Amino acid sequence: MKRSDFLKLGGLFGGGMLGGLGLSSSGSGSSDMGTSDAARLSSLDWSRVNGSMLDHAAPAIPKVRVAMLGLGNRGSSLIEMLEWLVQQGHAEITALCDVQAPYVARAAEKVATFQSRVPLLLDDPSGEAWRQACNPDVADLVVIATPWHLHTPMALHAMEQGLHAASEVPIATTEADCLELVTTSERTRKHCIMLENCCYNGEELWLLNMVKQGVFGDVTHAECAYLHDLRALLLDATYYHNRWRLREHLERDGNLYTTHGLGPVCMYMDVLRGDNLSHLVSMSSNEAALSKALREAEDPELQAMASQVKCGDVNTTLIRTTHGKSILLQFDTHTGRPYSRLNKLCGTGATHYGYPSRLYLDHGPTWDWHRWQDDEAYDAARAEYDHPLWASLKEGITANQQGHGGMDFVMMYRLIRCLNEGVALDLSVYDGALWSLVGVLSERSVAQGNERVDVPDVSGGAWTSKSSHPVFREI
Ligand SMILES: NC(=O)c1ccc[n+]([C@@H]2O[C@H](COP(=O)([O-])OP(=O)(O)OC[C@H]3O[C@@H](n4cnc5c(N)ncnc54)[C@H](O)[C@@H]3O)[C@@H](O)[C@H]2O)c1
Repeated sequence: MKRSDFLKLGGLFGGGMLGGLGLSSSGSGSSDMGTSDAARLSSLDWSRVNGSMLDHAAPAIPKVRVAMLGLGNRGSSLIEMLEWLVQQGHAEITALCDVQAPYVARAAEKVATFQSRVPLLLDDPSGEAWRQACNPDVADLVVIATPWHLHTPMALHAMEQGLHAASEVPIATTEADCLELVTTSERTRKHCIMLENCCYNGEELWLLNMVKQGVFGDVTHAECAYLHDLRALLLDATYYHNRWRLREHLERDGNLYTTHGLGPVCMYMDVLRGDNLSHLVSMSSNEAALSKALREAEDPELQAMASQVKCGDVNTTLIRTTHGKSILLQFDTHTGRPYSRLNKLCGTGATHYGYPSRLYLDHGPTWDWHRWQDDEAYDAARAEYDHPLWASLKEGITANQQGHGGMDFVMMYRLIRCLNEGVALDLSVYDGALWSLVGVLSERSVAQGNERVDVPDVSGGAWTSKSSHPVFREI
């Protein structure tokens, strides 16, 4: 990366320090600048939220016109997930936008293999061309797969222009942005969904179904995580555009990527559907592994960053729900170890550990039954409680294994088909805002010496109504 690009990127992340206080990086909150931190924090008035977008159904869109913003690793993969939906006439890709012209050309080539109409191609390197795609004459929905700091401004602008917004994770990196996403969605009546694909994975949906069927009894505790050794990708010169993701680790300390682990757990625990997140404490370990990798890199520019890494190697956050359930949430993309989201769940009826998936069915207080279900019993439980969605979409899942084993296909299928049918989406703006907000608050707790931080109610009180999760609705 050129030095000038690096400095430009540094400017974009000027809000990094503010991130610890949950302040806005979208630009919309820049008026916060100049007042005291306390005043800025008190201006985050969640009482403005009314909860009206929970289970909101927008008018049906028989064929959803999709604008894709960001065509890097994730954007290209999401295009593949749309292929079947386009072929069935459920969706059409109407705009492709990236600041890198070769990525736009690559995406256009891919789209041409399954769609005859050529989308609007936006490859202006200024970084502003995406605004042209946020136009109701062009699209009904924007899919955002850009670096994190662009998610909120892109989603806000899309909704203001009358489009639904679907953003990659996390949808926001400051508390002000979480709040603005919620209030804008409520005011414009536009969906604003965070594309948390792990909520659609076979194992997670199977667990959710078992919880629903009562197998876990009273759910008490969960452990979840994003443990993914990203060092090689973070250091790579081209994998992430301008090494945007490495830059985040130089600027922030806490859980920067909460949602893959936390999203499914919130579904198991009825969060926003009868329970809510109450408060958390967060602690980061010292930083050692990423700076070691940077020191040992050949590129002098990387070596110079070694002393700047702010994010601890392992962040651990403990969260308590209003009804007393506990969650241990971890984040680590520095340490060399196999990938895991933990996916542990405990209840009075059963316990599950992921990676690899193991199930324990409670036998009451016994001395001699402390063993996981054997393969046969596990397979039987898997078959009995397989989520109907995963079973009904088997063909698409098999054909789209490149999308994280099929879960990405299920996610895009649900998004587009819910919009087609004019029913509520599986995940609301409150889910995305809440799961992202936990990351912001973890940074705040770390910055304040691991103090307890209360989680504001992002749903305007709507969480108190117990309701079945829409992911069980057949479409
Ligand atoms: N859910 C998942 O499983 C999953 C997996 C990978 C990445 N992601 C998320 O996807 C997002 C993108 O990650 P990635 O790995 O694809 O990164 P990437 O760097 O490969 O892609 C980002 C793209 O955005 C483009 N971009 C930057 N500024 C832009 C602008 N102003 N207008 C238009 N395009 C712009 C870049 O040129 C780049 O092509 C991130 O939020 C990441 O967290 C999610």
